[in-house]
Amino acid sequence: MNAETTTMNEQAVREPVLREVEMHLYRPNAPTTGTITRSERCTASGKAAGCVRHIEIDVSGTDLAGRCVPGQSIGVLAPGQDEKGRPHAVRLYSLASPTAGEDGKGQVISTTVKRTIDEHWDNHTLFLGVASNYLCDLQEGDKVQLTGPAGKRFVLPRDVDEHDYLFFATGTGIAPFRGMILDLIAAGCKSRITLIMGVPYATDLLYHSELLSIAEEHPNFSYITAISREQQEDVNDRLYVQDRLRTHKDQLLPQLSDERNLIYICGIAGMELGIFRQLARDLPPRDIEQYLRVDGEAMANIDAWDRKMLHKQIKTTRRIFLEVYA
Ligand code: A2P
Repeated sequence: MNAETTTMNEQAVREPVLREVEMHLYRPNAPTTGTITRSERCTASGKAAGCVRHIEIDVSGTDLAGRCVPGQSIGVLAPGQDEKGRPHAVRLYSLASPTAGEDGKGQVISTTVKRTIDEHWDNHTLFLGVASNYLCDLQEGDKVQLTGPAGKRFVLPRDVDEHDYLFFATGTGIAPFRGMILDLIAAGCKSRITLIMGVPYATDLLYHSELLSIAEEHPNFSYITAISREQQEDVNDRLYVQDRLRTHKDQLLPQLSDERNLIYICGIAGMELGIFRQLARDLPPRDIEQYLRVDGEAMANIDAWDRKMLHKQIKTTRRIFLEVYA
C-alpha cells in the first residue's frame, strides 16, 4: 500500500520521546522553603483589569535547585487553615522559568500567578483565592513552603531539534511556554516555534515585551496574539486562539502538516475543543489523523462537538499536549 492509499487509521504518528524529569522531591508532609526574590506585575500594561504577577523564588540549597523544568509545577502551601480547620491543601503552580532558572544557574525558579477574586455564587460575598492571594501578597525576602516538582507529561521532547512547536496559551497558561521557549532558544534550536497567545484585552498580554524581543531576535520564533474583547491590530475582529488557524492559515497549515510538528495547549478549559474543531475543519484528513482520532459520526458533524466527547469520540494522539483548568 503506498502513502496515497493508506487509510487514516493505518497512518503512523511520529511520537515524540519526552525528556526525563524528576518528581516529588518534596511532598506536602515534608516541604522545603524558598525565598521570594522578585514579584512584579507581568501584564503588558499596569491598566490591565486582572492582576497577574511574575514571582521569582530562590530555591538554592534545596533539592529543587536545577531540577525544575518548564511544563512541571511546584506546589505552594499557604499558611493557615481552611473552613474545616484543616491545613490548606497544596496548590500547584506552573513553572514559568526555563530549566536554567531566572539566574542561569537553576537556583531561582518562577511562576505566573493571577489573583483569584470573585463572589460566592450563593450569597454574593467576596471570595478570595487562598494561595493565589497569599503568593501575590508576598514581599521580597519572605519565605514560602514548597513541594514538587510535579508532572512529567507536559514537557519538551528530549531532542528538541527533532520537532517543530505550536503553542496555544490563554491567560496564565503562558507560564510553561515562556520557560519552554527560553529553553528552546537557549539550546540554539532552529525549529519552527509558534506561540498563539489569547487574552481578553491587549493590556492583559503577559511577558509581552520579552516575547516580542525574542521574536525580533529569532526569526524561527513567531508570536501571534488573539485578543478576545477588542479589535486586533491586523483584523477587524475579536478573536480566540483557534481563530488564528484561519487568519494565519498560510503560515500555520504547512507547520501543522509537517510530521515534525507538536501541539501544546495550556489555559482555560474549553479552549482545546475550539482548537480541535478548527483543526478538523482546516486540515486534510491525513493531517488531522496525526493529531486527533475522531470517530466517523463525530467527524460528520464537527459543529456538534462538546467537551463530553473528549477522550471518547474525540481522542488526541501523542502529538498533542494538553493542560487546561477551570
Ligand atoms: P473571553 O473571556 O473574552 O471570552 P484570562 O485567563 O486572562 O481571562 O484569558 C483567557 C482568554 O481565553 C480570554 O481571552 C478568554 O476570552 C479566552 N477564552 C475563553 N473561553 C475560551 C475558549 N473556549 N476557547 C478559546 N479561548 C477562550
